[in-house]
Amino acid sequence: MELNILTLCYLIASVTFIVGLKMLSHPASARKGNLLAAAGMTIAILGTIFLYKDSEGNGLHNYAWIFAGLLIGGVIGTLAAKKVKMTAMPEMVSLFNGMGGACAALISIVEFNHLVKGYGAHLAAGGGPEFFAVLDKTTLLIILLGLIIGSISFAGSMIAWGKLNGRIKDISFKGQHLVNNLLILLIFGLAAYLLIASPAQTVPFFYAIVVLSLVYGIFFVMPIGGADMPVVISLLNSFTGVAAACGGFLYDNKVMLTGGILVGAAGTLLTILMCKAMNRSLMNVLLGSFGGSAAGGGAAAAASGGTYKEISLSDAATVMSYANKVMIVPGYGLAVAQAQHVCHELEKVLEAKGVDVKYAIHPVAGRMPGHMNVLLAEADVSYEKLLEMEQANDEFKSTDVVLVLGANDVVNPAAKNDPASPIFGMPILEVEEAKTVIVNKRSMKPGYAGIENQLFFQPRTSMLFGDAKKALQDLLAEIKSIG
Ligand code: TAP
Repeated sequence: MELNILTLCYLIASVTFIVGLKMLSHPASARKGNLLAAAGMTIAILGTIFLYKDSEGNGLHNYAWIFAGLLIGGVIGTLAAKKVKMTAMPEMVSLFNGMGGACAALISIVEFNHLVKGYGAHLAAGGGPEFFAVLDKTTLLIILLGLIIGSISFAGSMIAWGKLNGRIKDISFKGQHLVNNLLILLIFGLAAYLLIASPAQTVPFFYAIVVLSLVYGIFFVMPIGGADMPVVISLLNSFTGVAAACGGFLYDNKVMLTGGILVGAAGTLLTILMCKAMNRSLMNVLLGSFGGSAAGGGAAAAASGGTYKEISLSDAATVMSYANKVMIVPGYGLAVAQAQHVCHELEKVLEAKGVDVKYAIHPVAGRMPGHMNVLLAEADVSYEKLLEMEQANDEFKSTDVVLVLGANDVVNPAAKNDPASPIFGMPILEVEEAKTVIVNKRSMKPGYAGIENQLFFQPRTSMLFGDAKKALQDLLAEIKSIG
């Protein structure tokens, strides 16, 4: 391979993608990792625009279109990222991911038209069908893969986006999975026909594949429980990566290929990790309607498992002020209430009183990977204070007070004790080992999994009802008044 400046740009970009991805694995380096990968992408884009030459030595020429597109996309992306609420992040990821899928599908459509045109010109010049031989069939195969995967990813991501923001409800009908299977068989059947037949005769079938893939994407995501959308988005994200990698094959563009493969692999790994942390198989996520339609949880029946006791603000303030060690367990409710700043303030006030305060982070607390880390980082909570689940579980025995803030499933002992529970086997934060557990939430309603939590009825547990932000503000005032 000739080592020219563009190749060097692609090499640098590929390295920044890999290093950036690695840096995303720790909260302290994640922001820099993101910037590094973005810088690499900028180098790759600018390098392509100004340095690319085709086999005849021609560079790009339609600069007005390119820069208009960059400007419009850049402005929309920046505004969306600045305005998005933390709880709406999965929604935004879904929308952006859908755009990636659409791009991959559009590339396939453009390249198919080039292929058909080239074949037509060849025939017009008196050439024979041998032109459409092995090399072109390989190209067509990649075009079709990019088209099918990209279209499914686009349509599925749009449905996931609609479900997360409540515009689209879960819809399923009897025999839907059979219809889905038939659809995918039909799509691959048509693709196989395209590979055998002459391209001139197959144009309508090509567009039939576009329509059927879009319909399949819609039907694929439609019946999945609204609360399972983060897992589905991660899966669709990996689809988009593979579709983009197909574009890299088509254009022999190494950086597009590397980027696509990295996204595809990272999305697949993340999907597997999320399923593992919830102790559910991917099939269960795709076929089950777990968690009902409310991304915010709380749709199922209220608790009925016995009596629970409440704690007053002043008692909670006293027990925390005189504790040696307090562990805060953040959950989805803390993000909903946007109470991360007041939570950090509580931590500082308690530390000023000599209390050792730490946070126990469950890998799937909240609604997206790293949700609690991002939330607490927003409030400048030190990374040193965050304990991963295994470390936290080692420390609960020596903890005086656990303060559960809007978390539910991730502290549900049914995951260990009740083989009939849908979350049985999911690793949890074993907060019941601590001397005192204070649970803040607004009611006895269940969380995402829609199941009762026996923790709330245990003798060491007390409920502190109320919106997390208001409850923490009041608690803080009480603690300060203790002096
Ligand atoms: P959940 O089990 O969903 O519980 C959240 C609790 O927060 C609810 O019970 C709710 O009770 C309370 N809440 C809501 N708004 C509140 C507010 N303003 N103030 C105080 N409390 C509030 O949350 P979790 O423990 O974080 O568990 C996460 C769940 O999501 C797990 O089941 C996990 O498997 C699932 N999940 C996670 C992910 C990722 S990647 N994180 C992806 C998909 C699914 P009230 O209504 O009574 O207030």
